[in-house]
Amino acid sequence: MARVWPGARHHRRALSMADSIHALAIIGTGVMGTGIAQIAAQAGLAVHLFDARDGAADAARANLVATLRILADKGKIGADAAAEAASRLHVAGRLSDLAACDLVVEAIVERLEPKRALLAALEDVVGESCILATNTSSLSVTTIARAARHPGRVAGFHFFNPVPLMKVVEVVDGLATSPAVGDALVSLAERMGHRAVRAKDTPGFVVNHAGRAYGTEALMMLGESIASSGDIDRILREAAGFRMGPFELLDLTGIDVSHPVMESIYEQFYQEPRYRPSALTRQMLEGSRIGRKAGHGFYRYRDGKPVDPPPPQPVPAVDMLPPVWIGAETEPDRDAVRALLVGLGASVEDGAAPSREALCLLAP
Ligand code: NAI
Repeated sequence: MARVWPGARHHRRALSMADSIHALAIIGTGVMGTGIAQIAAQAGLAVHLFDARDGAADAARANLVATLRILADKGKIGADAAAEAASRLHVAGRLSDLAACDLVVEAIVERLEPKRALLAALEDVVGESCILATNTSSLSVTTIARAARHPGRVAGFHFFNPVPLMKVVEVVDGLATSPAVGDALVSLAERMGHRAVRAKDTPGFVVNHAGRAYGTEALMMLGESIASSGDIDRILREAAGFRMGPFELLDLTGIDVSHPVMESIYEQFYQEPRYRPSALTRQMLEGSRIGRKAGHGFYRYRDGKPVDPPPPQPVPAVDMLPPVWIGAETEPDRDAVRALLVGLGASVEDGAAPSREALCLLAP
């Protein structure tokens, strides 16, 4: 059934559109394209892989088949499921091989013009009900979609690295995106075992906007010599409960990806000072010290594993603990701090002012 873009009756259409996504094309079979292909094939979709670089799609398919086999060997998925998912992976030699796909997800280079050129070329190939999605992490979906004859079918479908483990995906509605298209992507994300977050088309969407407070701010702290990268990572991991510190995350994502994203979001927010990129990562980018994939970023890596994790600061040995005086009587955690210190065997002073020997703890 031919569908009109954009259109009314979108809820009914969204359901039927989501159900009718069987064949998915992935364009750009790098890190992200390969990850998206894996979860789609495991969810039962036929996946067609296309890359502009000769042999890249074949290599991605071979890697995916190997990954699925490893998952089966480790008992994470059944051997039959692995074989079936592998059988759903196909290599497309030309764009025109993607004519029958219901959804195309592009994960090519993060530059506006190639993405827009690809979109325009795709519309000559695919059917009119095919959804065109971009995995862009920092470009405007609305700007990309302007290259399309039917911008209503264009949406952001922004996954995170590594895709099979990072279970969140942002579904981004551009100004002209038909609501049914976003709804269909949300529903598909669920089929693939991911949690979709609907986001407006604003710089960085949700995660990379919020992430300014993580990476950009950590770089600011490092630049101001407040603490070393190892200490900042350790504090955020061990005390704040993050899986990775900001510098470990920058090394994983790659500074070649993250630095341009920082620049792009900063510019899109009209040079908001809080989002100012760091000269440190610019220099690392120029020097190809871009993280894990280069074997060297904030840390050094061998076979993908850090080789020189910074040693934690040793705890000094102290024979005699001084008495402790706790300030800030109005501080609500004062009693808890006191109980902790007593539990550690410290003698706690209760006077209004500390003695000369006291270690003074303030709990602001
Ligand atoms: P990548 O460099 O690993 O892979 C890109 C692939 O696209 C390459 O194989 C390249 O040959 C191919 N390609 C480039 N131009 C092409 C074109 N015009 N037609 C067909 N194929 C083309 O890149 P990666 O890291 O997978 O990123 C891809 C997209 O995903 C970018 O838009 C990026 O911003 C976005 N993204 C990346 C994340 C990451 O952590 N690496 C996270 C979320 C989104």
